[in-house]
Amino acid sequence: MAGNLTFTMIKPDAVRANNIGNILQMINEAGFKIKAMKYTRLTETQAGQFYEVHKERPFYGELVDFMSSGPIVAAILEKDNAVEDFRTLIGATNPAEATKGTIRKKYASSIGENAVHGSDSDENANIEGNFFFSKLERF
Ligand code: GTP
Ligand code: MG
Repeated sequence: MAGNLTFTMIKPDAVRANNIGNILQMINEAGFKIKAMKYTRLTETQAGQFYEVHKERPFYGELVDFMSSGPIVAAILEKDNAVEDFRTLIGATNPAEATKGTIRKKYASSIGENAVHGSDSDENANIEGNFFFSKLERF
C-alpha cells in the first residue's frame, strides 16, 4: 500500500524568486498537510550527501553547487498516496515538459533550476525526511 508521507524542498531558485508563499499555497490547495518544515541552507557536503544517488551523473557537480547556493524550505507532507500525488503536482523534471498547472510549469526556469524537489518512493521519502527532521520536529 502506498504511504501517506512525502518529502519536499523549495529549491534556492524559487526562494530567490520569492515564490515560497505561492508554492506552499499550491501544496495546501492540493490537499497536503505540513507535518514538519524548516528554512535552512545546505552546505556543499550536505547537498552532495542528499543527492548521492546522482553522484555518477554528469550534472552532479552543477546540482550540488545549485542546491547549496542559497536557502531552501524543507518539509514533510501528508496526504493519501503522497509520493505519487506530489510528483503529479510538481510536474516533469524539465519544466518545458511539465503539464500546465504544475508547480514546475509555473515556477521552474530550467531542468537544473526546477523550483521544487519531490521524493520518488516511500523509502526515499522516509530517508529524506530523516535527513532533515528529528521526531520532535514532526507534528
Ligand atoms: P528531484 O525531485 O529534485 O529529485 O527531481 P526529479 O526526481 O524530477 O529528477 P532527478 O531525481 O532525476 O534529478 C534530480 C535533480 O537533478 C533535478 O531535479 C534537477 O535539479 C537536477 N537535474 C536532473 N537532470 C539534470 C540535467 O540534465 N542538468 C542539470 N543541470 N540538472 C539536472
Ligand atoms: Mg529525484
